[in-house]
Amino acid sequence: MNVPFFRIDATGNELDYVREVLESGWLTSGGKVQEFERRFADAVGAPHAIAVNSCTAALHLGCEAAGIGPGSEVIVPSVTFTATAEIVEYLGGKVRLVDVDPETAMLTPAILADALDRFPSTSAVLPVHFGGRACLMRTTGGDGILDLCESRGVAVIEDAAHAFPATYDEQHAVGSPIGSTACCFSFYANKTMTTGEGGMVTTDDDAAAERMRRMRLHGIDRNAWDRHHRVGAGWEYDVVAAGFKYNLTDLAAAIGLAQLERNHEFHEARKDLVSRYRERLSGLEGLRLPPALPHPDRDAWHLFVVHTDSETGVDRNTFIEGLAERGIGTSVHYRPLHRMSHWMRTAILDPHGYPGADAWFEGCVSLPLFPAMTNEEFDAVTTAITATLSECRTSTV
Ligand SMILES: Cc1ncc(COP(=O)(O)O)c(C=O)c1O
Repeated sequence: MNVPFFRIDATGNELDYVREVLESGWLTSGGKVQEFERRFADAVGAPHAIAVNSCTAALHLGCEAAGIGPGSEVIVPSVTFTATAEIVEYLGGKVRLVDVDPETAMLTPAILADALDRFPSTSAVLPVHFGGRACLMRTTGGDGILDLCESRGVAVIEDAAHAFPATYDEQHAVGSPIGSTACCFSFYANKTMTTGEGGMVTTDDDAAAERMRRMRLHGIDRNAWDRHHRVGAGWEYDVVAAGFKYNLTDLAAAIGLAQLERNHEFHEARKDLVSRYRERLSGLEGLRLPPALPHPDRDAWHLFVVHTDSETGVDRNTFIEGLAERGIGTSVHYRPLHRMSHWMRTAILDPHGYPGADAWFEGCVSLPLFPAMTNEEFDAVTTAITATLSECRTSTV
């Protein structure tokens, strides 16, 4: 049986809502986008939610609104997708790659405090809520990532591409107001909810929200929907900045609305798969599971990343190939940016190196994790893992 790394579940109201949009005659950003923004804002408890056509666009707008520009130095954790870093270069800033915790692949307050002490010229930080788990943003002792940045006047733009619907603590959803300039979500095809391509940026900063809304659509002071629907001269508008073309379409928002309706159900299904993976795979020689969490409900579980153990003879790449031969799709998140040729040339690299990111990369494999996975598919994945591990171990004896 073949099991892909991801398969979308679009068996809710997706088709009905898309049909509604097609029949309405208004395909670009309009009423459906506005409704999607309202519902997403409600879901995370944010005063402003601004729909865009990718998380990359959201990150770009967030950094632009935070004032990142030529000469800015921005801290980016090395284990992330290249989009987190590239938007800094779009704005003429410099990327400073820092290490991550080898257990979570994330920036920790300790790593950040050390980096901010050593590099006081830092203008902003882009923490990544990797795999769907929130970084430690605030603590009662005042030494969370946001606390540290606030006391030094450093802006924070959150990369929450993986993190809907995650929570920072027992009450606050990722995307709710905690003091960052922007929190950026992805609705790329294989994310926890999708619009095909798409993203959302949330903020409680009114000025940043206004700037991002304008910059999302060419820096024009009125959007096409308003111009078309309000009384007065539809042609009349002003251009207040050289903006971007980052608006989401009503067609995509229609899919997003249907996906959002099932957000709770999707999350439950992901959590269930994770606990079954833990049950089925724990104790297998050659495979390390992620440590059990005190609050697994807080994790969005976009990814379930295991590590192969080369000391038992299980090589990651051979393991991935063995699974592929058995029809099982996997992925690797991520080869760290400090090992990518562009970032080796242009980023400011840490003289202390990247022991955490390198340890994470060694052996990491992301297993299939999607709500539409059937019991038969789950059995096929775990059976293939057991067989492949055993093959990897015996071939190196
Ligand atoms: C951590 C991270 N940040 C940003 C992005 C960019 O998202 P998008 O494809 O919606 O632009 C991704 C996409 O995979 C991602 O994984």
